[in-house]
Amino acid sequence: MQRAVRTGAWVGAALLLAGAGAGGGSASTAAGPAGGAPGAAGQAAQDERRHAPYDAQQRPPGDPARIARGQALYGIHCRGCHGIDLRGGDLGGPNLLRSQLVLRDRQGELIWPVLRDGQSTPGVSSMPAQSLSETDAAAVAEFIHSILATSTRQGGPPAGPEIELDIVVGDADEGRAYFEATCASCHAADGDLAGIATRIPDAKMLQNTWVRGRQRGAPRPPVRVTVTETSGARTEGRLARLDDFLVALTTDDGRRRSFRRQGGSPRVEIADPMARHTELLGVYSDTDIHNVTAYLVTLQ
Ligand code: HEC
Ligand code: HEC
Repeated sequence: MQRAVRTGAWVGAALLLAGAGAGGGSASTAAGPAGGAPGAAGQAAQDERRHAPYDAQQRPPGDPARIARGQALYGIHCRGCHGIDLRGGDLGGPNLLRSQLVLRDRQGELIWPVLRDGQSTPGVSSMPAQSLSETDAAAVAEFIHSILATSTRQGGPPAGPEIELDIVVGDADEGRAYFEATCASCHAADGDLAGIATRIPDAKMLQNTWVRGRQRGAPRPPVRVTVTETSGARTEGRLARLDDFLVALTTDDGRRRSFRRQGGSPRVEIADPMARHTELLGVYSDTDIHNVTAYLVTLQ
């Protein structure tokens, strides 16, 4: 989740800069050198784009269908390591937008051997060989080039339309294991959560829902309370109010009851069905969240 937010901020910043560049240009005539700097920077960026110093930026645009296929394959085989935006991912793959090899590649001829054989820098990192056919590898290369072609400069953020942020970046199998260990005491994939991804088709909303434990605007399930008086009489219901002096509740048959509190008497036991959800907020790592979302997305 954090990753997507960060990427969004990046793209936002790039758009802002572009805006400042364009605006600065006209301001510099009126306001003199003070307004000139951003204009000059914008101009430099534009020149750089025009000169397109890298092969990858001089290619004719690829076939959209192949690019789409490449994008899907990238999502399956590469995204975990190289990131949703190609700038490197959780599993340690480097930024492909800054890779000299990728920048020099024209049609997958340099990328293909890396995918076929893997590549490693001893003691630093290594990429296992990928089980892709040469045709599929070429489609992935085409996709990578389609992103590079929109870069303003080496390693810079892609210009143009904002990349749609796909937040389903986790591993569904890991997510299932996490779910079974952490959530299955209260939920079942074939029970209350069956078809949740159909009910909530937007992955981002689905993620927010499970993390929060309810959909935006949905009522919070009531907190239950049990009051035990010194006589041993017990009263149970929905908690209405609790402070040092008073506990008030509504019993299941709709009667309102309140008890004065003094020290530990009467005994008050609270059961908040959402307590675990609240606790878990402090426990999830980004990866856990991504994985669980990827798993829940499969509950169609
Ligand atoms: C398990 C993680 C992992 C996966 C999956 C993975 N890579 Fe890599 N990739 C790496 C690492 C790590 C390196 C750096 C290897 C090294 O040290 O030379 C790398 C290097 C590369 C390079 C060379 C970059 C350079 O400048 O030398 C390319 C190109 C590349 N990967 C593309 C891909 C593509 C395309 C896919 C999907 C088909 C993919 N990788 C899948 C981890 C991965
Ligand atoms: C201790 C019990 C408990 C645990 C553990 C728990 N939940 Fe929940 N969860 C609840 C309760 C209670 C609700 C609220 C249900 C309601 O409103 O009727 C809820 C609501 C939800 C909802 C919203 C359901 C809907 O239909 O809108 C989702 C999704 C969800 N939990 C997913 C998870 C996931 C994923 C985990 C594990 C990471 C988890 N929960 C762990 C008790 C739990």
